[in-house]
Amino acid sequence: MYLRNAWYAAMWSETLGAGKLVPRTILDEPLVFFRKTSGEVAALTDLCPHKFAPLHLGKLLPGDRVQCGYHGLEFVPSGECVRNPHGSERISPNCKVRSYSAIERHSMVWIWMGSAPADPSLVPDYSFMNDDSGYDITRRDFLRINANYRLVADNLMDLSHSPYLHDGVIGGPDTIKAEIRVEQEGNTVKVHRPKQNVRPTGLLDRVYRKDGARVDIWSTIRWAAPCYILNDTGAYPPGGERSDGAGVLGAHLLTPETEDTTLYHFAAARTGTLFDKDEDQIAFRQWLSDARRHAFANQDEPIIEAQYQMRKTYPAATTKPVLLETDAGPVRCNRILDEMILKEKLLSS
Ligand code: FES
Ligand SMILES: [Fe+2]
Repeated sequence: MYLRNAWYAAMWSETLGAGKLVPRTILDEPLVFFRKTSGEVAALTDLCPHKFAPLHLGKLLPGDRVQCGYHGLEFVPSGECVRNPHGSERISPNCKVRSYSAIERHSMVWIWMGSAPADPSLVPDYSFMNDDSGYDITRRDFLRINANYRLVADNLMDLSHSPYLHDGVIGGPDTIKAEIRVEQEGNTVKVHRPKQNVRPTGLLDRVYRKDGARVDIWSTIRWAAPCYILNDTGAYPPGGERSDGAGVLGAHLLTPETEDTTLYHFAAARTGTLFDKDEDQIAFRQWLSDARRHAFANQDEPIIEAQYQMRKTYPAATTKPVLLETDAGPVRCNRILDEMILKEKLLSS
């Protein structure tokens, strides 16, 4: 069901404060994250092997030891139990928990869930979100969606829903018709939806010139397996150069929590030319953060969850969806992911 040998976004770096034990379920596995004294991140199975109390209800002790809050067994980042305070203090050889490779990149904590050696070079490049990238990053935001992660990816990889679901700010009637081009390179899919000489969406108008004048729009959304998405969109003068325009680069990182739930982390930055030199940058960043959250939480989330419920409730009636031309991107992504999961299964069996 899941691709296991891959990095998954677990939480924003700022969520994992020093001294904290932060629980997350990822790919149906209960995990506890913490920072070592060195500041590096660590992750263990969040399940004490004694009576199965979740370890995140315990304490993080000096020496990077996680103490179970129930009877006090202590575990180090390798997963070994190093202290049993009871009786003869003997530690049984099977008293240990699984340790996972975790890494911090691009203001995000990532975890490797597979049995193959974790490869740091496979952390996807979201370096524009680094604090020192030079980009003005919006709020690093998060939603927990009650639907399978593939439906959330489908929603993003087919933006033909924008004029309807997001009419007003990030969608508009002029963006219904678009020439769609799907490109695949290895395990990466790009969907281009450029538009010429159209009225800008409310969001692009605010990002660009704030005059409502017609624009050309670039729109490229990129998916990489298993679920890393980057949306690059913007507006520029009709017939002109993209370098004269401005836009938004949006990161959408989807992590399967369970089959039925998705951890959705998102953040964005403005790109291109700043036309309003006097603009209050803090107010703009706040507005962009709120506009995006409104679209994802109040518009995308309810319809994705309702759509997922219909599939769960009426499985027989929803096995064969009617496909539109606009579905070409999501179909391609799902096919790639299916093949990768199958290959991984065959190699490990
Ligand atoms: S359940 Fe953890 S020490 Fe008993
Ligand atoms: Fe949407």
